[in-house]
Amino acid sequence: MARFIQIAVQDQAAIRDELAAGLSAQSAVIAPKHFYDLLGSKLFDAICELPEYYPTRTEAGIFKGWRDEIAEAAGSGRVLVDLGAGNCEKAASLFGVLQPSCYVPVDISTSFLKQAVGRLQLQFPSTAMLGVGIDFSSTLELPAEVPPGPRLFFYPGSSIGNFTPQEAVAFLSRVRRACSGNGSLLIGVDLLKESTVLRAAYDDALGVTACFNLNVLNNVNRLLDADFHVNDWQHRALFNEGQGRIEMHLEAKDNLIVRWNGGLRRFDRGERIHTENSYKYSREAFVALLHEAGFSSVQCWTDPREWFMVCHARAG
Ligand code: AVJ
Repeated sequence: MARFIQIAVQDQAAIRDELAAGLSAQSAVIAPKHFYDLLGSKLFDAICELPEYYPTRTEAGIFKGWRDEIAEAAGSGRVLVDLGAGNCEKAASLFGVLQPSCYVPVDISTSFLKQAVGRLQLQFPSTAMLGVGIDFSSTLELPAEVPPGPRLFFYPGSSIGNFTPQEAVAFLSRVRRACSGNGSLLIGVDLLKESTVLRAAYDDALGVTACFNLNVLNNVNRLLDADFHVNDWQHRALFNEGQGRIEMHLEAKDNLIVRWNGGLRRFDRGERIHTENSYKYSREAFVALLHEAGFSSVQCWTDPREWFMVCHARAG
């Protein structure tokens, strides 16, 4: 059985306060980390199979096509720390070349990760694994059970896009400091491209992304004792050209009142809750951001259409 550690999760009171503050703000927001309850994680996996959602398969193509170059840069026998591991498939596809001394998948979606690590351990019985259930946006401090040795932080899928560029620099600086010894980072980032392609990826024909976005309300109902009715809301996705980011919102279909334990809010018809930013970068801008965070020896690989990029960068 795979080992699993759930670190004292952020206390419920803090999660409630943060959610209530977001809902009460003049422009209401819900942080995207709340998408990932058990159903949300499964809906995200379904998104990754959609014809319109190119990032996952494009990134997988880069890992496959540049396998040896990436392995040469990242080295083997590292402690592989997978940030936001989800179903662990991206890291698992690299086990063969990276030969990690220990695989440490980290995710906020604890029960989903537990299932994934359990399956993976059966598939790779000789690879040491230690699942860690934490919100890594609040701490990168890993449990003492994680073995010593150089760490390779793995942050695929363009999850870095959920941060503003300024937050991304701050987060990557923390990752760099957490790279013990001669550690490094292997990161995937979505590149700027034609807006029709971007928009379709976040507003697919089947409506799976709409379900994923709306499901956050189910999670908020649970976390905050709120009374959101999913049917009162609709999915909106737009490309904010000036900011270089996709934005997802939930838009009220009518004038509504939402109540929760300790508060309420009126929403006018058409009013929105901002649920996610997904920043897209140019190659130059992202490399500059890695340098700003203190990384060096940056190497990048892309697909033929230059839709997505994988970078390796050294902490020292
Ligand atoms: C997991 C943050 C990389 O921004 O593309 C997919 C999440 N949201 N479809 C992304 C997401 C809507 C995804 N990340």
